[in-house]
Amino acid sequence: RAGLPRTAREVAVLDPKNLKPFVDPLPIPAIARNAGLRASPTNAALQIPYYRMEMRALETQVHRDLKPTHCWGYAGSMPGPTIETRSGEGLLVDWINNLPQQHFLPIDHSIHGAEAELPEVRTVAHVHGARVPPESDGYPELWFTPGKSALYHYPNGQDATALWYHDHALGINRLNVYAGLFGAFLIRDAVEDALNLPRDQYEIPLLLCDRLFDQNGQLHYPVSANAKSPWIPELFANATLVNGKLFPYHNVEPRKYRLRVVNCANARYFHLSLDNGQPFQQIGCDQGLLPAPVTLKLLSLAPGERADIIIDFSSNAGTQIVLKNDVLPLLQFRVSKAAVKDTSVLPAALRAVPKLLESASVKTRDLTLEEVDDLVSDPVSLSLNSKHWCMPVTEDPVIDTIETWNMINLTDDSHAMHLHLVRFQILDRRRFDTFLYQTKKIMRYTGAAIPPEANEAGWKDTVRADPGMVTRIIAKFEGYTGRYVWHCHILEHEDNEMMRPFNVIAAPIAGTT
Ligand code: C2O
Ligand code: CU
Ligand code: CU
Repeated sequence: RAGLPRTAREVAVLDPKNLKPFVDPLPIPAIARNAGLRASPTNAALQIPYYRMEMRALETQVHRDLKPTHCWGYAGSMPGPTIETRSGEGLLVDWINNLPQQHFLPIDHSIHGAEAELPEVRTVAHVHGARVPPESDGYPELWFTPGKSALYHYPNGQDATALWYHDHALGINRLNVYAGLFGAFLIRDAVEDALNLPRDQYEIPLLLCDRLFDQNGQLHYPVSANAKSPWIPELFANATLVNGKLFPYHNVEPRKYRLRVVNCANARYFHLSLDNGQPFQQIGCDQGLLPAPVTLKLLSLAPGERADIIIDFSSNAGTQIVLKNDVLPLLQFRVSKAAVKDTSVLPAALRAVPKLLESASVKTRDLTLEEVDDLVSDPVSLSLNSKHWCMPVTEDPVIDTIETWNMINLTDDSHAMHLHLVRFQILDRRRFDTFLYQTKKIMRYTGAAIPPEANEAGWKDTVRADPGMVTRIIAKFEGYTGRYVWHCHILEHEDNEMMRPFNVIAAPIAGTT
């Protein structure tokens, strides 16, 4: 296969500041429509919805003044349509790979400065945050090539929340997601219904991701010019898409809106606020509703994390308010003048989140987040617990037991640590340092335990693990036995060894040893 021309390294990147903001309406991804019913794999008497999610190359207009952008999508759009379902109601998805044989973005994971190349296409879909049997989880090695498909079963035995689906193919995930392979997956339930939150046109998914474009409005994924680290350590871009558009606008009424925000970026942590300084309420995090609303002026979201927020525009009639990331505009709300009747509610109490107690934890695992710089690995690589992806499983919780995982961050970066299958709670974060004692590295805490932020004090599946800190989480490994993964959700890290399998194992039979 031919290497990319060297000039691919020197593409002139488009500066979005030269584009007129707020000229395109915010797209709302369509609700996915099923293609009929099929027998449930776990109960042949039960007919459940069957969806066809075909992956294809497509063109999308990210801004009025740009040429259509070549990208990939599920079921005809980027982001893909929103799959909406109810807790306990299973569904089937046929993930169909009808992508081209060769990628349009370069892979640059080659030892000793070899040329970058356009890799062969392989994909596998994962629903982030879903409690699913292992064979439907999108294990990174279960990728398939164009012309192939995989039928997955999602039982949805979990609380109402916003999940999201995205590609998870081993080693190439960062390019597939960057190309556009992601979408939202909403689970509803009776507890949520009873709260009378804003719904229908007053509930809006916001899928955020940053991208680089060339002067022709085409996606650009840079390759490294540095032989010492022949992959881009993090993809940070200057243009942020909101549901696939560059700084769109949205017409709203002076009333409450519910926004389901998903950080779909490869590596960026978003820091969201409203340009008039107005506060908003966070009512849910990754795995569902918080115990009570949390008032915020600034919302931080690491890659993979979600936030369920309520913005009340009732005192903003006739004005324009911009949702920003740091200082840059993302989305303009145009609030209409006419007063409206808003019957939705922002309840003072949302959903109880029973605490998982450390005293109930049967095992504590110390897990390091590391950068390795040795001759065996690529020139520089990341690792979890000093292990590579291909080494035997070391994390093997017993089904229905509670474990504490201490994520010890020995790197200089923050990582967005995600576990498949389970929901967890953050116990605390503690500063630490290390010292050598007779050739052994000893770790000691140097600060007090910092409890999770109020908007993290619910059920999570992804957690920010900052450098110099031990981030301690607690989870009950329930649902299914089998092999899953845990990894950093910075996709460049994940693709470069910051991912490990874990096995949920069956309980030993009583009376045996
Ligand atoms: Cu968002 Cu392993 O996934
Ligand atoms: Cu996931
Ligand atoms: Cu990371």
